[in-house]
Amino acid sequence: MRVLGIETSCDETGVAVYDGERGTLLAHALHRQEVHAAHGGVVPELASRDHIRKLLPLLREVLASAGTRGPELGGVAYTAGPGLLGALLVGAAVGRSLAFAWRVPALAVHHMEAHLLAPMLEARAPAFPFVALLVSGGHTQLVAVTGVGEYALLGESLDDAAGEAFDKTAKLLGLCYPGGPALAALAERGEPGRFRFPRPMTDRPGLDFSFSGLKTHALNTLRRGADDEQTRADIARAFEEAVVETLVIKCRRALHASGARRLVVAGGVGANRRLRAALHELAAAEGLEVHFPRLEFCTDNGAMVAYAGYARLRAGQIEPLVFGAHARWSLEGLAPP
Ligand code: KG4
Ligand code: ZN
Repeated sequence: MRVLGIETSCDETGVAVYDGERGTLLAHALHRQEVHAAHGGVVPELASRDHIRKLLPLLREVLASAGTRGPELGGVAYTAGPGLLGALLVGAAVGRSLAFAWRVPALAVHHMEAHLLAPMLEARAPAFPFVALLVSGGHTQLVAVTGVGEYALLGESLDDAAGEAFDKTAKLLGLCYPGGPALAALAERGEPGRFRFPRPMTDRPGLDFSFSGLKTHALNTLRRGADDEQTRADIARAFEEAVVETLVIKCRRALHASGARRLVVAGGVGANRRLRAALHELAAAEGLEVHFPRLEFCTDNGAMVAYAGYARLRAGQIEPLVFGAHARWSLEGLAPP
């Protein structure tokens, strides 16, 4: 079964075709919207308009390079939430219409489930059960996963998500949006140990996160110190180390609490080099497995949506011919296919 995946929940237009029989991606393409950089953050209306411009050309390109025609597909999967409502509706309307015209099933995919299953696209795919650390721009969650659609939330961010904290702190340091990769690059030139930031909520039991205080800590440190490039790099380094160590501490706790021996990391912050290295270290020290998507599938993409759609269609999930999109959507509200 070949499944087309469409991702339009935020500022990336992603399209891909996954082949379930061969267990491989046939084609994928991504358009990263640049219109937002000048505004310092994503402007929802501009995002919707850009998806409208780019989605059909990308679809043609991906179907051609996959060597597939629409009616031959086993289904069309599209991100239906959570995300920006207007942006989601572009993918939902196009995905549903194409599926209707091609007489194939359409399937609404949960964006965080797609992130969570993204490591399944790798040659060494994780087996169930596992603990997933989801670290994106909008969410930071620890989830106990026993199968597709079987998710128990262990902990989550009470304020800013990890990616959001990266983006906001990057802005304070004068870096462009999206700030995560830019802050990580600046941190490379930072001197370790010059500043020490707190590891929020690690001094008490539990698996929830709170990252908004780190941004304030960065601002106060910036105000107190000299306003030079080295100080900014040192702050970036201290911030990154605090986020990474906090995530590692909570992952260790979640693994111990759940008894799972496998950790899956997904979402944009999963592309962070220092986080990947620290979690590999944790896995080696504790004799655990750790799985990441390849770098390009940590951030938003169509491939993870195609895979999540495939996993549910293969299990026989069928949806009625009505559709909507959800700006907010709880992962725990999902059921197995
Ligand atoms: O998963 P994603 O593409 O979109 C959402 O679903 O939110 O995640 C985007 C987030 C942004 O906040 C971005 O700054 C962050 O992931 N990010 C990173 C890195 N690459 C992307 N944060 C830290 N280090 C990186 N290398
Ligand atoms: Zn995402």
